Amino acid sequence: MRIHTYEKLWLVGSMVLIVGFIVTITYGSVGLGISMIDDEDENVAPTELNDDERFGEPRVEQVGDDEYAAYVVAQTFVFQPDPIEVPANSEVTFHVTSRDVIHGFYVPGTNLNAMAIPGQVAEMSVEFDEPGEYGLICHEYCGSAHHDMEGLIVAQS
Ligand code: CUA
Repeated sequence: MRIHTYEKLWLVGSMVLIVGFIVTITYGSVGLGISMIDDEDENVAPTELNDDERFGEPRVEQVGDDEYAAYVVAQTFVFQPDPIEVPANSEVTFHVTSRDVIHGFYVPGTNLNAMAIPGQVAEMSVEFDEPGEYGLICHEYCGSAHHDMEGLIVAQS
C-alpha cells in the first residue's frame, strides 16, 4: 500500500512528539537539576537502621568549622539520642528518620518541624543562638504513648 507523503510526515511528526513527551517526562527533571525521586542517600530502609553508617549510632558529629550533623532516630516512643547535645552558635543539620511508624519532629521556637517517615530522611538546618534547653516533641499521632513522646536538645555555650 502506498502512503501519501504528507501522511508519512504527519506520522513521523507525531511519533517524534510522543517520544519527545516521554523523554521530557522521564529525563526532563534531571536536566533542570530537580530530582523527582529522592536521591538514594536520602533514603534508608527502616529495617536496616542498625547497619546504616548514619543511623546505626544516632549521634551528633562535627562535619566542618562550626558545622554539625545530628543523626536522629524516632521510634515509639522515644527519640535517639536523648538528649541531643549541640554547640550553640553553630550550624546544625538534622537528619531524621523513623524506625517504625510516622512520627513528628518539632522544636517550638525554631524552624525545626518535620515528619519522621520510615524509609525517608528529613533534613533541616538550624543555628541555636542562645545556649539552653529546647524541647523536642512528636507532633504526629503515632500510638498509645504519642502524647509522652518527647526529647531534649541541649545547646551548649
Ligand atoms: Cu511519635 Cu507521636
